[in-house]
Amino acid sequence: MSQPTLLLGQTLGFHSNPFHSEPTEAANYNRTGAILVVDGMIQDLGDAKALKAKYPQAQVVDYGNALISAGFIDSHVHFPQTAMIASWAHRLVDWLNIHTFPEEMRFSDPDYARQIAKRYFDLTLAQGTTTVCSYATIHPESVEAFFTEAQSRGLRALTGKTCMDRNAPEGLQDTPQSAYDDSKALLQRWHGVDRLSYVITPRFSPTSTPEQLEAVGALWSENPLCLMQTHLSEQTDEIEWVRSLFPEARDYLDTYERYGLLGDRAVYGHAIHLEGRERARLKEVGAGLVHCPTSNTFIGSGLFDMNSLMAEGQRIGLATDTGGGSSFSMLRTMAAAYEISQLRQRTLHPAELYWLATQGSANVLHIGDKVGNLAVGMEADLVVLDLASTPAIAQRHAEADDFWEALFPTIMMGDDRAIKTVWIGGREAP
Ligand code: GUN
Ligand code: ZN
Repeated sequence: MSQPTLLLGQTLGFHSNPFHSEPTEAANYNRTGAILVVDGMIQDLGDAKALKAKYPQAQVVDYGNALISAGFIDSHVHFPQTAMIASWAHRLVDWLNIHTFPEEMRFSDPDYARQIAKRYFDLTLAQGTTTVCSYATIHPESVEAFFTEAQSRGLRALTGKTCMDRNAPEGLQDTPQSAYDDSKALLQRWHGVDRLSYVITPRFSPTSTPEQLEAVGALWSENPLCLMQTHLSEQTDEIEWVRSLFPEARDYLDTYERYGLLGDRAVYGHAIHLEGRERARLKEVGAGLVHCPTSNTFIGSGLFDMNSLMAEGQRIGLATDTGGGSSFSMLRTMAAAYEISQLRQRTLHPAELYWLATQGSANVLHIGDKVGNLAVGMEADLVVLDLASTPAIAQRHAEADDFWEALFPTIMMGDDRAIKTVWIGGREAP
């Protein structure tokens, strides 16, 4: 057993979904909190005074007035798009063809893949993000690079080889058979190793033939405990394109459903322009939806319908979608979700935003029993936030009358300067 460590600070976790009650009542907030970490896990939680008396032998790390919570969970990203984030283009399909696909082609070079994986985790950890669920590229080398880097840092991390066999440049296409074979080999090599999970990853219907969707659907049915991730109904012109490519399908979701790519372990990015049947089916099977607000404004996709999707009982997470998203920061992503909620006439509460960026995302990835919350028995992946990290934030923070008002300026204006440190598996990240 490693020496117990007692972390002191303000602490924030959740005992229920704040969308389904008065938001602040779902939170466990402690002004003078303490977290006991032993062997990488949270072993006790409570008030600083009581836990100091209960564990006199523990090493104490006092973060003073800083806020300690679960590390942020980014449930939909493309790590290979790190070096082309913030690329100017009109619409999704232009953006993919002009910027994204040429950049992703570079990942046939394992050295480049390793270099970007390292850079990506440096950037996301600096933003307080402790778990990501990423798309890789079609190249198995990109998956190797991502998992090797995550493993060396002790991270819980998820990715999969992106499968696409049409409507992409030559050199960025696989086949139904190679998509199946390469995905299967990577899954067998990495899934469940340390804290790593393989995710079956057809990019989206326009870049897969029906034969490929069927092949990856078969792989998923053979490995039903894996997640399957893809994109769904992001832009209206994309939906028209899907309709022309799959004239027999009832709707966009049906292009997945008919090939076995719908289930409770499916994770669909965006899900903005959904039809009634799609919403009902998603709800019925308990699939996960991921809101990517900075991406949705950057690429001009539309306004996610958080309020009614949550009210009807959909499972929803939050994500940057880098590099379609314009930031690596989950704070900035919470701010964008707030702004979109304002345009949707339903103002999200800071507790709801924070829950989405931690527990909500973890739940969508089916790892909510391991990370994404402060609770006894959870893995100790933590972020420590300075709630007065810049002069602009500090002067607003000083006027706050309660905790949520003290937190909100950091959600709206915070960046990597607000991240004092992160803990990964019970150890402070170097
Ligand atoms: N749809 C298909 N591929 C992508 C991608 O890389 N980013 C976004 N935002 N949407 C997509
Ligand atoms: Zn995406």
